[in-house]
Amino acid sequence: MATIAIASDHAGVALKAELVAELSRLGQLPLDLGPADTTSVDYPDYAVKACTEVTAGRAALGILICGTGIGMSITANKVHGIRAALCHSELDARATRQHNDANVLCLGARTTGGALACEIMKAFLAGSFEGGRHAKRVEKITSLEAKR
Ligand code: RB5
Repeated sequence: MATIAIASDHAGVALKAELVAELSRLGQLPLDLGPADTTSVDYPDYAVKACTEVTAGRAALGILICGTGIGMSITANKVHGIRAALCHSELDARATRQHNDANVLCLGARTTGGALACEIMKAFLAGSFEGGRHAKRVEKITSLEAKR
């Protein structure tokens, strides 16, 4: 059981609710950082909220949803310590945990249906970093942050 920070923009509110319910069913602890309704908001504000929970160690992983997942992933990857992956399949989700040590999953509410999004989320939660040859590659990503 782990705390999972989850946030969206207005386009992702309905999918967020589905994923929050699924997280609870799975015995995880969803930390829903909003928004609570579909009033238009700016996705970077919500990306930063969830990413901050992850980098502060208050959440094990983060999940971000916008219309395409693209704005959320671009924003999340600007936050030091975050490796965010926009996933459209279970394979994407498993591979990004195993190879990239991703700590934030991004989903597109307008591109990915609820049932598939739940399966993608489950694959992401179940995955773990393989280390080995992937470790030095992730270290190279991390070293780029020091140069910014
Ligand atoms: C909002 O209309 C939309 O731009 C946003 O949800 C997202 O798709 C941005 O990447």
